[in-house]
Amino acid sequence: MSTCAIVGINWGDEGKGRMVDLISSSYDIVVRYQGGNNAGHTVVNEYGKFALNLIPSGIFRKNIVNVLGTGTVVDLEHLSGEINKLKSAGIAISPENLKISDRAMIVFPFHKQQDVLEEQRLADKKYGSTKRGIAPVYSDKFQKKGVHMGELLYPQKIKSHLESILEWKNLILKNVYGADPYRLQDILAWTECFGEILSPYITDTGILLRKANAEGKKILFEAQLGALRDIDYGIYPYTSSSNPLASYAPIGCGAPDLRVDEVVGVVKAYSTCVGEGPFTSEWFGEDADRLREAGGEYGAATGRPRRVGPMDIVATNYGVQVQGATCIALTKMDILSYLDKIPVCTAYEINGQKTTDFPFHAILDEAKPVYEFLPGWKCDISSVRNYEALPSEAREYVEYIEKKINCPIKYVSVGPGRDEIILR
Ligand code: GTP
Repeated sequence: MSTCAIVGINWGDEGKGRMVDLISSSYDIVVRYQGGNNAGHTVVNEYGKFALNLIPSGIFRKNIVNVLGTGTVVDLEHLSGEINKLKSAGIAISPENLKISDRAMIVFPFHKQQDVLEEQRLADKKYGSTKRGIAPVYSDKFQKKGVHMGELLYPQKIKSHLESILEWKNLILKNVYGADPYRLQDILAWTECFGEILSPYITDTGILLRKANAEGKKILFEAQLGALRDIDYGIYPYTSSSNPLASYAPIGCGAPDLRVDEVVGVVKAYSTCVGEGPFTSEWFGEDADRLREAGGEYGAATGRPRRVGPMDIVATNYGVQVQGATCIALTKMDILSYLDKIPVCTAYEINGQKTTDFPFHAILDEAKPVYEFLPGWKCDISSVRNYEALPSEAREYVEYIEKKINCPIKYVSVGPGRDEIILR
């Protein structure tokens, strides 16, 4: 297989970063194809523990070229900081191993401010934004009011483009939110300062990826978030503003003519969700606290405590379908070791009717979980590396889920470290 996408099946935070870090060893290129620095891909390896927001998780491996594709949005200041942080931990980063699409969009300080102001305006109806400017920059893109990374290479042109954009943006900030206007010279200074650092990395990633594909090089697409956060297929409006689905990878990488051969869907052994919106199998109180603590469920990008609950088969099935997953990586199995019996949400009850089909988002908050219970294994499995060596109850859990979601579980992850994995 020469192209593969690693994608989230649920609400995000499934452990995609650790899977990309593991699988990337046999790939030549790793591409992020959507989203911005609202992601936090946690990777634990010989260099330490990192939460990568924008830079693809292949950056730790020598000889891998890492690409931020056309579908991504780039906060120049944040990316410059992320590059510096990694460099100071001993990771080599240069225009040779990091490429940024000339068609990726720039996230400006006014996007971040608009994001904050809009969440404040929404008050108790807020969407749960990470306040990194992601929704405003994507909406500007579709209003044709965005600025491409490639424009940084043409300082005179970007100046007049920014002038007209700022005139419009200041009207919105003032009239909708009563906020102070941004001064053109400040935005230009910011753009110049960080643009100078990033300019050497900017390129046409389509040319790069097509050439690599023609030469038989292997390309790995790294998604952020999960299927239920997809702007078109997720639980709108509690979604991200981009498309984390595997089928978007060719469009978002810069070469829409590429194909995705394999799709590894990452599923957590239980459910977690950051932010607002319906979450049918949510636990509260002591049960939730215990699972959250056991799994260290706090957002990698924001530190926000995650909402937690048992595995939701209805939502997972939907995620497997819309992602077109060809196999599954089941992560964080080790976290469930403390449970006597493990609940699994196998159906929803809506207005007295039982369903296993994932409902339209407008009625999702009426769904009540229907649980089945599986026996717990009650022992530490983090040192197990061979599937047959897992306790029979743990194998039963894996095989039960596999059957329910109708997709082969190829990887069982039992710890965050690179080698803490069982291959089936
Ligand atoms: P998003 O794109 O933001 O959704 O990120 P992500 O899918 O890469 O997940 P994230 O890194 O936010 O969360 C996964 C967390 O679980 C990280 O802290 C990982 O180190 C950790 N992790 C991944 N797999 C395992 C596992 O099998 N066991 C344990 N104990 N931790 C794991």
